[in-house]
Amino acid sequence: MEHVSRWEKDITDELLALENQSARRSLVLTENADQTWLTIEGQRMLNLASNNYLGLAGDERLKHAMIEAIQHYGVGSTSSRLIVGSHPLYDKAEKELIKWKHAEAGIIVNSGYVANVGVISALTGRDDVVFSDKLNHASIVDGIVLSRAKHRRYRHKNLNHLEALLQREPIEKRKLIVTDTVFSMDGDIADLKGLVELKERYNALLMVDEAHATGVYGENGTGYAEMEHLQSKVDIQMGTFSKALGSYGAYVVGEKWLIDYLINRMRSLIYTTALPPAVLGSIIKSIEIVQQAGKERQSLHDLTYYFRSELLRNGFNICSSETQIVPILVGENDRSIQFAKLLQQEGIAAIPVRPPTVPEKESRVRFTITSAQAREDINWALDRIIYVGKSLGVI
Ligand SMILES: Cc1ncc(COP(=O)(O)O)c(C=O)c1O
Repeated sequence: MEHVSRWEKDITDELLALENQSARRSLVLTENADQTWLTIEGQRMLNLASNNYLGLAGDERLKHAMIEAIQHYGVGSTSSRLIVGSHPLYDKAEKELIKWKHAEAGIIVNSGYVANVGVISALTGRDDVVFSDKLNHASIVDGIVLSRAKHRRYRHKNLNHLEALLQREPIEKRKLIVTDTVFSMDGDIADLKGLVELKERYNALLMVDEAHATGVYGENGTGYAEMEHLQSKVDIQMGTFSKALGSYGAYVVGEKWLIDYLINRMRSLIYTTALPPAVLGSIIKSIEIVQQAGKERQSLHDLTYYFRSELLRNGFNICSSETQIVPILVGENDRSIQFAKLLQQEGIAAIPVRPPTVPEKESRVRFTITSAQAREDINWALDRIIYVGKSLGVI
């Protein structure tokens, strides 16, 4: 028992240290998160914290698609995809995915986290180099660590720094450049054109994470690469069905050799149970809906432009946000927690984001907008954000 109490003591001390730095996290019971107003511990709040960008998470058409899939195919997928888990809805969903993304091949996997960890660790190894934007999502970082490849982090969106790092590596080394398109904590967008130029000049592969851009950008909602007409120049596109598409799971698209290789080498695809049929049913429906959601995309962009402009006009620092993800930079951890707490008391759900998710001294409160929100609700929220911001001296 001696060693057990040692573990308990070390871990309790670590949790206490987190608490002292206002960095300890806990789970909070949330109801109706699929809606524009939610309830946290009995209090009704405007939901400015979800990734439900097109309001599809509670959509009746997706609910029916799920129920229908359960009735035909049951609840569980019973095994991994390579055993007997590749039920017919996978085939249908992947065919729709490929058509929608104008891709040669594609595969659906269990989540965005699983996709990034699995793709990067399957493709790269000890002898390879991965160049990754400093603000890329944690799942990309974990994929690189797991791959044992050389990890070269370039300063956020700084292509001069990336080029300097590329120049340092021998020409014969295999190189992968990986970036979020929409950055999840700053709400800004990668310079995809510049990245394509560099990947061509240095003969590297380019992988993009379109988690927050899928459904939101491009005429058919396939993402930022589509909007920039660069889909054919990006070697690996990954995105999720769990945000704007309102469902769950993720996709990877690219050329056939890539997808064939992933089926053989991607451990997070091979060694896990396949998604339940209901999830695939809703993915198929959401791919159909998102292509016709031009009006919702436009309202989302109009609303986020308005929200950002009003915050800027009132003196808030919103980092370099240019999307539906809008942070207000606060600085210290306890201040960001207090800001979020006061907003919650005013009836607004927005989350404090602290290190290690963001750099030290860059704690923030992060807001996300969805097309389902009404302009009056956003105006109501802005009044309260300004009031709380002034009372805390943030503006
Ligand atoms: C940029 C980015 N990539 C990947 C993920 C992981 O996706 P998922 O939630 O489907 O695991 C997220 C979000 O959670 C994300 O923000």
